[in-house]
Amino acid sequence: MRKIISYILRVFKFFFSYGIFNFYGIVCSQKLQVQPRVPLKIRQGVREDILSVNEMYFMGKSSVIRGQNQLFDKGCQMYVGFVDNRPVSVGWLFCGSEFFGVGLRVKIKPDEAFILGCYTHPDFRGKNIYPSMLYYLLEDAEKKGKKKCFLHTDLCNKASNAGVKKVGFSFIERRHIFRSFGQVFNGNWNSPAKDFN
Ligand SMILES: CC(C)(COP(=O)(O)OP(=O)(O)OC[C@H]1O[C@@H](n2cnc3c(N)ncnc32)[C@H](O)[C@@H]1OP(=O)(O)O)[C@@H](O)C(=O)NCCC(=O)NCCS
Repeated sequence: MRKIISYILRVFKFFFSYGIFNFYGIVCSQKLQVQPRVPLKIRQGVREDILSVNEMYFMGKSSVIRGQNQLFDKGCQMYVGFVDNRPVSVGWLFCGSEFFGVGLRVKIKPDEAFILGCYTHPDFRGKNIYPSMLYYLLEDAEKKGKKKCFLHTDLCNKASNAGVKKVGFSFIERRHIFRSFGQVFNGNWNSPAKDFN
C-alpha cells in the first residue's frame, strides 16, 4: 500500500509540484553550539552505510536509496549520527561549485558549502539532533576551508526552520519553485554576492 501511495505521489509530482522555500546562510565561524539531549556521535558516512541509514526511513526506501547513491555520485558527503550505535540522523554537505538535485540548481563560490538532505529518525525528534548535525557539518566545512554555508527549508516545516536558527543561520530570501513535466521553474539559486547578516 505504501509503495503504491509513494508511486502515485511520484507520478503526480512529475506533472506538477509547487513549494515555497526559505534560504538561509551562515558564516561558519559564527555557528552556535547546541547540546543534543541524547548521547549523539556523528561521523562521516560511506556508501556502505546507505542500507543501515535507510532503516530510519519508513516510506519509499528504494527511492531514498537511489537518491542517496545519486548524492554520492554528485560529490556530496554524507554524515551519520548514532545513538548507542543505532543510526538516528543523516545530513549531507556539498563542497563543489554547482549542484543540481532536490529540485534546485545551486551555484556556490569556492569558499562556500551547501547543506541538504537532513533527517532525524521520528523516535529521536525534538532532542536537538538536527542542530547538532548542522553544527558538525559546519565544523567540517570549515576544516575544508569553507567560510560560508547555505541551506534551504520548506516554508511550512516548523522543525527545520526552528533548527537552523538554533545554530545561528540567517534568513536570506524566500522563493517560490514550480516543477512541471520534469522542468523546474525559478529553481536556479546562486549564493548571494553581498553579506546576508
Ligand atoms: C526537521 C528535522 C530534521 C528536525 O530534527 P530534530 O532532530 O527533531 O530537530 P530538533 O530537536 O531541533 O527539533 C526541532 C523542533 O521539532 C519539534 N519537535 C519536538 N519534539 C518533536 C517530536 N517528538 N516529533 C517531531 N517534532 C518535534 C519542536 O518544535 C522542536 O523545536 P524546539 O526544540 O525548539 O521545541 C526532523 O523533523 C525531520 O527529520 N523531518 C523530516 C525531514 C525534513 O523535514 N528535513 C528537512 C531538513 S531542511
